Amino acid sequence: MSQPKVFITRRLPTQLEQLQEIASIEVWTERQPPPYEILLEKIQSIDGLLCLLTDRIDRQLLEAATSLKVISQMAVGYDNIDIPAATSQQIPVGHTPGVLTDATADFAWALLMAAARRVVEADRFTRAGEWRTWEPDLLLGPNITGATLGIVGFGRIGQAVARRAKGFEMRILYTSRHRCEPELEQSLAVEFVAFDRLLCESDFVTIHTPLSEDTYHLFSDREFEQMKPSSILINTSRGAVVDPDGLYQALSTGQIAGAALDVTEPEPIPMDSSLLTLDNVIIAPHLGSASRQTREKMANMAIENLMAGLRGDRLPYCVNPEVY
Ligand code: DGY
Repeated sequence: MSQPKVFITRRLPTQLEQLQEIASIEVWTERQPPPYEILLEKIQSIDGLLCLLTDRIDRQLLEAATSLKVISQMAVGYDNIDIPAATSQQIPVGHTPGVLTDATADFAWALLMAAARRVVEADRFTRAGEWRTWEPDLLLGPNITGATLGIVGFGRIGQAVARRAKGFEMRILYTSRHRCEPELEQSLAVEFVAFDRLLCESDFVTIHTPLSEDTYHLFSDREFEQMKPSSILINTSRGAVVDPDGLYQALSTGQIAGAALDVTEPEPIPMDSSLLTLDNVIIAPHLGSASRQTREKMANMAIENLMAGLRGDRLPYCVNPEVY
């Protein structure tokens, strides 16, 4: 009997031996993702797809997938995949929750500290030969210790950010669709507040909500108007949660003091984006989960999901369990 066919849309930071024993594998080895037309061609003859957040898996693609038994995404977020379409085709979709929580919270924290204490500007300043003496008012930023942190979205990553904030003796506010248990609130020393109050009172606002119809451009003119002029916005979730034009306006007019983004709309950020002209924004190329150990775990988890799907077993980390 011939082996099931699998297409993997990029080189993975792990070994494929186990998968090779049960499937015939094709790996897309280019640095850029496979173009949509290639995906459309491949999807017609494969049993399993291992994809990344840069691959658009839409209804048209899924309707062409007549033999596909499983989609396994190497990411926790899956807004690039039309889940209702996959579900209507009875295709289980896997993702990688949990393993990237700490790495992403660490990176949100790195961005917060870099933006507050102007680390990127300081490095540019030094390399430009501007460091001539110690100056009492050089590159000043706000205090982090003791400041108010507003966390928007309080799932695993939001909570991990709160745990770190506790060590900085911060006042921690959060807003979320669901309020968490009083015991958890107490142990993390967090206060549940309405979104608008969080915006008005926070010195730092960090976004950890998935992208959905409800969170698309959640941060736009109205929200920036409510934030403190001294506040700093951190986004490690999805770029489209923030309206880039509104953010440019807010940063360039002093409505907010700074921003640090690991994600942008679109990705990659176009080189003519007005945001790139500003000194008070730091932009990283979507690195939240980019620790070696985390990326390896994500790849292994994605393979685990893929193999389960090929065997016809329930995916251990399934986004649409209603297919079963
Ligand atoms: C995810 O997993 O959704 C991140 O954005 C990439 O690690």
